[in-house]
Amino acid sequence: MSKKIFSGVQPTGNLHLGNYLGAIKNFVDLNNDKENECIFCVVDLHAITVKQDKDKLRQNIRETAATFIASGIDPDKSIIFNQSKVHAHSEGSWILSCMSPMGWLNRMTQFKEKAGKDKEKASVGLYIYPVLMASDILLYDTTHVPVGEDQKQHLELTRDIAHKFNKDFNAEDFFKVPEPLINKNFSRIMSLKDGLKKMSKSDPSDLSRINLTDSKDKIINKIKKAKTDSLPIPNEEQKLKDRPEAQNLIGIYSSISNQTLDKTLYEFGGKNFSDLKNQLAEILLNKISPISDEIKKLINNQDYLDKILIEGAAKANEIARKKITEMQKIIGF
Ligand code: AMP
Ligand code: TRP
Repeated sequence: MSKKIFSGVQPTGNLHLGNYLGAIKNFVDLNNDKENECIFCVVDLHAITVKQDKDKLRQNIRETAATFIASGIDPDKSIIFNQSKVHAHSEGSWILSCMSPMGWLNRMTQFKEKAGKDKEKASVGLYIYPVLMASDILLYDTTHVPVGEDQKQHLELTRDIAHKFNKDFNAEDFFKVPEPLINKNFSRIMSLKDGLKKMSKSDPSDLSRINLTDSKDKIINKIKKAKTDSLPIPNEEQKLKDRPEAQNLIGIYSSISNQTLDKTLYEFGGKNFSDLKNQLAEILLNKISPISDEIKKLINNQDYLDKILIEGAAKANEIARKKITEMQKIIGF
């Protein structure tokens, strides 16, 4: 069956191995399936839910689009655009926010994490961020949404909002209820310095993540310095329990080599982490360095990137505008 795919990545800089293995690598596989219609969005409206520097934001929008293309998404096959250029996303978000109970949003754990202790100071945008995400997805009759594990709760909210709109307005099947596509094997890549913390763009330590633009030397150095424990590598998954750093490195190796944890443990069981690290660094160099080189090339070709984004926005606008017009009719505007 052909799938309608939508996903988004925030242009907030430092795209890393977690973004690649948790999301972008899957985008590429979905793009490569001829049957699928794919839309990949640079979600700049989501980015401004926390303060952004205007020049950096502009640069990061292009860099995120460059990363999509450098990773293997074909702009002739899939639509690539930035969210702020298709106004239906904001309009849809307002309408959906008027029918989303606060109780649903109050449950969102990402808001609690990002807002931190001083919730009063967090922006209203950060609070309703998941409703904008629902608008992104629902405007395109999306059937499947490839994301990392941290977005699962937002996807459930999107499904609830779709059901509620259809029911409240007696508009059966108006919004398609989308399915999440979350990598089963390893959907959460952790910090290289702390196996209990997610690998994140905003971690103050650059050693905690492999950035997709890191040089070869940096990748080798970061893997060498990655935290491990003093025991040898076990040969069964059960024995990785309570060893978060070991689990993370084994998981990263499995994910980037497209193999199961079992297979990796069979290969490395009983060996030292230095063996695993040497091999991991080599695979990362093979997979990540060509992407990194291509990103750098594309970033210098600003006109090309801008053209892709403008053409993508025109195609996305055509689809989204129709859906908003239908939404307006259903509501009574
Ligand atoms: P963001 O950078 O927050 O816009 O995330 C873009 C995509 O990368 C989303 O699908 C996230 O779920 C995914 N992602 C971000 N960090 C990680 C991570 N540490 N492990 C796995 N997936 C991640
Ligand atoms: N909230 C997502 C993240 O931080 C990004 C995002 C915005 C998204 N809109 C989306 C992902 C729609 C999938 C579908 O990672």
